[in-house]
Amino acid sequence: MNVASEKTVRELALENPATTRVFEKLGIDYCCGGKRSLEEACNTAKLNIDEVLESLEKAWEAPSAVQKDWQLEPISEVITHIKETHHKYTREEIGRLGPLFAKVCSVHGENHPELIQIRGLFQDLANELSAHLMKEEMVLFPFLIRMEAAVTRKESIAPAPFGSVQNPISMMEYEHDSAGSVLRAIREAANGYSAPDGACVSYQTLYHALAAFETDLHQHIHLENNVLFPPALAMDRALKVQHDGNQSHCRHRRTDSPASHDRPPRTWRLGSAVGASLYRAGCRIFSRTSRLAVVSLHVRHAFIVCAANAP
Ligand SMILES: [Fe+2]
Ligand SMILES: [Fe+2]
Repeated sequence: MNVASEKTVRELALENPATTRVFEKLGIDYCCGGKRSLEEACNTAKLNIDEVLESLEKAWEAPSAVQKDWQLEPISEVITHIKETHHKYTREEIGRLGPLFAKVCSVHGENHPELIQIRGLFQDLANELSAHLMKEEMVLFPFLIRMEAAVTRKESIAPAPFGSVQNPISMMEYEHDSAGSVLRAIREAANGYSAPDGACVSYQTLYHALAAFETDLHQHIHLENNVLFPPALAMDRALKVQHDGNQSHCRHRRTDSPASHDRPPRTWRLGSAVGASLYRAGCRIFSRTSRLAVVSLHVRHAFIVCAANAP
């Protein structure tokens, strides 16, 4: 048995980023379904493991195999790369594909009803992704950058408005799984992105664009699930240990009321009934303007970001 076949797909993708090109070509899920061994993944995809291993070895030996290893970069750099590369591309493609879908569906939709189904699936995915990117950019990523800076400077950090970092990360992973399912449904409806005979240039362009969108989203999710989130969770655990240690030290010295840190901030208590009710419901202020407060509501492993009248 080859050692590589016993490793998980995720491990292989992390060891050498060139591996992801082979996985992409063969339809092996390395982002959301990356926890399976290569052997299991090949069985699921009905692929011959020896042929897959041969393709992987060729990819590893190719001169273009030397790609940046994002595992060696700071969290802030990984986040900048994700935003400037994958988030930018996702937004641009969502904007570009809407009119292209409209054009292709108007001409070919009657003879190819699967196009209408694909457009509906893509629209749902686009809506989900737009909200998802906003949550990452407004809530999770800024906190991860602050957390890394605090760890680097050996400083403490104010508690996150969403509780443990595990909560938003679990939510992001859940949404990644959901996006992965929609991508599979689109690929199936589009017959693996092979346009029918006689398809016009716009039809073929649409399928090429959808295939490229799928590849980019797989790489994007792989970077977040497998490269960004594990060290972020490790840092969060390390900070918690440090924070718990400080708390137990401070308990011997406290002179104020032990329950005072559980009370809502003054503005929430005195400002308005809405603010007080939101605080009791578990909301925490994330940011505020003169009239609105952006708050996070932490419910089990989920968190919701919403706006409320500022107290
Ligand atoms: Fe993202
Ligand atoms: Fe994400």
